[in-house]
Amino acid sequence: MSVSVFAPISIGNLSVGFDTLGLAISPIDGKLVGDIVRVEEASHNQFVLTGSHTSKLPDDENNIVWQSLLAFDQALEQSEQATVPIKITLEKNIPVSSGLGSSACSVVASLVALNEFYHRPFSDIQLLKLMGEQESAISGSLHYDNVAPCFLGGLQLMLNKQNQITQKLPVFEDVYWTIAYPDVEVSTKAAREILPDNYSRSTLIEFGQNLAGFIDASYRQDKTQAFNSIVDVVAEPHRTSLIPNFLESKSTLIEMGNLAVGISGSGPTLFAATDDLATAQASALWLNDHYLQSENGFVHICKADLIGARKI
Ligand code: HSE
Repeated sequence: MSVSVFAPISIGNLSVGFDTLGLAISPIDGKLVGDIVRVEEASHNQFVLTGSHTSKLPDDENNIVWQSLLAFDQALEQSEQATVPIKITLEKNIPVSSGLGSSACSVVASLVALNEFYHRPFSDIQLLKLMGEQESAISGSLHYDNVAPCFLGGLQLMLNKQNQITQKLPVFEDVYWTIAYPDVEVSTKAAREILPDNYSRSTLIEFGQNLAGFIDASYRQDKTQAFNSIVDVVAEPHRTSLIPNFLESKSTLIEMGNLAVGISGSGPTLFAATDDLATAQASALWLNDHYLQSENGFVHICKADLIGARKI
C-alpha cells in the first residue's frame, strides 16, 4: 500500500498579520504548485528526492522529510504504537527560501501522508504541533503561518493556544492572488534577523488596528475595509532592502488597480491581490517582464486553496 499527499504553497503573514495569518493558494489553471510526498512500506527506512527543485536540498537524513519521518515514528513509539520501515519520496516542486512556505509543504505532505498510511493515529492538533516543531527546526523559530494553511487550507489565524493553535477565517473567494517569485534567495532566518527587537507604541497600535480591521471585514465580507487594512508595519519596511525592485513593483501594481500588494512570507515572492481577472492577468504579464531576475523565476495567478493538504 502507498499513500501520496499533495501540500499547497501559502502566503504567510498576508502583510497584515505578521506570524499570525497565512493563506493557502492554488493556481487557477489547475496546476499543483506545492510538494508531493509518497509513503510506502519497505525493508528499511529510505528517503528518495525527486522533482524540479532538488539542487539546494540534502538528499540524506538532514532533509526535513527524513526528520519528519523520525519525529512521526517517535510520536508513534511514545503512544506505544508499532512502526514499520518506510520508503518516503519527496517530489520537490517549489524552490526553498521562496516565501511560499516551501519547507512547510514538505513537512505537511510528509506528516499527513504518514498519518494516512498509519490510518490516522493522530488528531489534527497533534499533527499541527509536530509540523510546527519541524518547521521551527528549519526557520529558527516556532511559527505556524505556513504549516497551518498548507495543512488545513484557506485563511488561518494563529491563536497559538495549547488547545487551539489556529482558527479558520472566511476568505474572499473572488479574489485573485498573483504571485511572482523572482529567483533571488532570501532565507527566513536572515529575513527575521533584519527585524528590530522592539517596536514603538504607535506601531503596536497600528498593527493591532490593521489586523483587527482585516478580521472584522473578512467576517462581514467588506472587501474595501479588508484590503485597505492590508498594510505591513512590522516586516515590510525592514525587508524591502533584501528584495530587488520590490517597492517600484508595488507602486506600479497598485497603479494598475490591485487592491493590495505585499511580500509573501519572508520573501522574495511578491503577491498582488485583485478581484478583477483582467487586472490579475495584466499584473502577471508585467511581473513576468519586470520582477523576475532569471528564467527560474515564475508567476502564477492563484485563488485561495480551501482544501489544504490532500491525498492524490
Ligand atoms: N512569518 C514568517 C516571517 C515567515 O515573516 O518571518 C513565514 O512563516
